[in-house]
Amino acid sequence: MSPEAAVSVPGKAILLGEHAAVYGYPALVTAVDLRLTVTARVTGDGRITVDGSSEFRTGAMSAAEAMGFSGGAEAPGDRLAYLACGTALAHADAPSGTGLALRIASDIPPGAGLGSSAALSVGVVAAVFTALGLRVAAGTIAEVAKRVEARQHGRPSGVDVEAVLRGGTLWCRRTAEGTLACAPLSTAQAGLTRLELYHTGAPAESTGDMVASVGLLREREPRRVNAALASIEAATLAARDALAAGLDADRALLPLMARAEAALEALEVVPADVARAIRAIEAQGGAAKVSGAGGRAAGGGLVLVLPAPGGAATVPSQWKRLHARLGAPGLLEDVAA
Ligand code: MEV
Repeated sequence: MSPEAAVSVPGKAILLGEHAAVYGYPALVTAVDLRLTVTARVTGDGRITVDGSSEFRTGAMSAAEAMGFSGGAEAPGDRLAYLACGTALAHADAPSGTGLALRIASDIPPGAGLGSSAALSVGVVAAVFTALGLRVAAGTIAEVAKRVEARQHGRPSGVDVEAVLRGGTLWCRRTAEGTLACAPLSTAQAGLTRLELYHTGAPAESTGDMVASVGLLREREPRRVNAALASIEAATLAARDALAAGLDADRALLPLMARAEAALEALEVVPADVARAIRAIEAQGGAAKVSGAGGRAAGGGLVLVLPAPGGAATVPSQWKRLHARLGAPGLLEDVAA
């Protein structure tokens, strides 16, 4: 029997810059130490099987069908693991009889703005390459995983994939050539010790829905949307400068998070009840913002909360605190399965 490849990948939280990143503006993003583990073994039976909790849709699919996903056929949204596997097999030019057995386990809640689909894409792609005996550069894993995300989300900026692949805390910006450049911030620079993470409920909308709705709003109301994107950019640049200057990051971030949140509300990606709760946190002297794609009707996914200096924040009782280290390691290979 061929050896089993095993990898693990963290989740992510966007500190500042979501939605604006889709239009080439910068983003500050950090890896969150909730991890997804993938094992992969070559079976040679021409089938892909995915084993794990129901969110990964256990079942089987022919490798040929999964590889067809990567050629432009419409990919069912609930078959991301198969799509990622097929895209990696196609990239590797694997023979048609190649089969793979995948096992996936995850601590990253789906629909929580924590990059669960980026982690799944990167984890499956990396595990498949390793199971095939291929040693590929991180840049290749990123390129293939971004192709998977593009099939799922239409227009991903790529920051989610970079965050979970590289780990740490990253400053990401699209270059003049159109590629995404990401540079690590040192742990000391990114000492965001008081930032709290809350899951406020899974949005009804997917990331793709939210990105598309901002795009439509931009067509209808370009001035409002462009002003909001510029405001997010200004907050993101100021946060990067404050972190790089070694300033008290938590204190420096308070007004910048409030500014970015106001812009996200102008983009209509914050449900009304979440916005109300954030106003209450601001009234306590703290700041909070949606992190990731957000939502419209109910459930804003991930919200980052920075309590007032020396104080604590009171948040709605239904918000679920997530305790996880920020700036976590990225993709780890050969983890114990
Ligand atoms: C999703 O985590 C972040 C968005 O900016 C989309 C993207 O950057 O691809 C909403």
